Order: sequence, then C-alpha cells, then structure tokens
Amino acid sequence: MNLPKHIAIILDGNGRWAKQRKMPRSYGHIVGTANLDKMCNVIADMGIRYLTVYAFSTENWKRSQQEVGTLMNLFRKYLKKIERDCVKREMRVRIIGDKTGMPSDIREMIDELEGMSANYDKMLFQIALNYGGRDEIERAVTRIADDARKGVLPEGRITSEIIDSYLDTAGVPDPDLMIRTSGETRISNFLLWQLAYTEFYFTDVAWPDFNKKELIRAIEYYNGRDRRFGDAR
Ligand code: FPP
Repeated sequence: MNLPKHIAIILDGNGRWAKQRKMPRSYGHIVGTANLDKMCNVIADMGIRYLTVYAFSTENWKRSQQEVGTLMNLFRKYLKKIERDCVKREMRVRIIGDKTGMPSDIREMIDELEGMSANYDKMLFQIALNYGGRDEIERAVTRIADDARKGVLPEGRITSEIIDSYLDTAGVPDPDLMIRTSGETRISNFLLWQLAYTEFYFTDVAWPDFNKKELIRAIEYYNGRDRRFGDAR
C-alpha cells in the first residue's frame, strides 16, 4: 500500500454522534478527543510523517458558550497530555490558526508545547485551532504586503513559493489525502490553499467511531486514484 505522506482530517460529527445516544454534545467532544489521541498513535505507528486536524474553526465561536467552554477545556487537557507523546514518538506539534484569538492560558500552553517539541522530526502533528483558510490567507497577505513595503521581499511577482512560506503551514508538504467524517462533503474553510491537489475522502462514519479499519479504507481509496500530478502536485 502506498502511504500518503500527509493526511489532513476534518473531525466532524461529534455532536450528532452524541445526540444519537441521547447524550449532550459535549460528551461527543470528549469521546472525539479520546479518539483523536488513539488515531494519532495509529497514524504515527503506520509511519505517516504529517498529520493535520481541524479541531476548532474561526466559525466555531458561534456555538453555545457551554460547548465552546467544553472544547477549550478539552484543548487545555489535550495540549498538556500530548507532551508525553511528543517525547515518546519524537513528534513535533504545531498549532495552526490565529493563536492571538485563543485564551491567554491556552496560548501559553501552545508556546510551551511547540517549544518543547520543536526539535523532534519523526512526525509533525498540526492542530488547527481558531483556524480558517481565508483568515490564514488574509494574515499571510497582510504580512507579505508589509514585507514588500519594507523591501524585505524582492520586487516583482509574489510567487506560490513566497505565499507558501507565509502560511501557518510553511515548510510542510501539502496534504496528499483529506478525510472528512460524518457525511458532509464540504471543505468548510480548511486549508484552502494547501488542498489544491489533494485527494478527498468522505465517509458517513462519525469522528468518534472512526478507527484504523476506516483509515485503511481511506488509504485504499487514495491508492486507487490516478495521481496524475505525481507525488508533489
Ligand atoms: C465537529 O463535530 C467537531 C468539532 C467542532 C470539534 C472537533 C474537536 C474534537 C474532536 C475534539 C478535540 C480536539 C482536540 C485537538 C483536543 P460537530 O460538533 O460539528 O458535530 P456535528 O456536526 O454532529 O454537530
């Protein structure tokens, strides 16, 4: 089986999964977080080098205060918990998204986690928090304009490579495979620039039920596609 180098996942369906079980949405997020932990290990064990997950979008602030609160608390716990996995797996963690919009204690935890894992290079785990693809491009273009004005950037065309290097994902190859769970077939403002040549796999399985078997199904689908653009594009 030809493994994708980089998998991106939209973790969707926690709420509906909980509702089906007559449980509060928060319960779905708790089980979804436990599943992320498990699947991150599965993906690391398979030897996949890059994993990027969509955990909280710039739109998700519109959810109820209670749900946002639960998610923030889950992030707090998870960001602390994965420090151990970073050491064990020589894994680097990077948060993508607008960190300035996150609560200050979470920002500190992010700095600490990114700092302590910065030199690990077996795997890179990117977690999108307060992330929106358009917002990322807006922030990148603003910095490009600033640097152009200051003369930091060479005059002339702003190339794809320059844009790449100003995105939150700078230095990371684009995803080969993007998986969205729970039946929706949109990309919902996830990695708009980076998914240009990515294969998309959609499944009805909700995120809390997504497991190794489902992942292999997604990779088999990816293997069956005609990758006309070769490895990189
Ligand atoms: C979508 O389910 C999921 C989210 C908005 C949050 C995703 C978060 C996690 C899996 C948990 C935590 C992640 C980390 C990094 C700790 P939904 O609520 O949109 O489900 P629905 O579409 O059924 O309502």
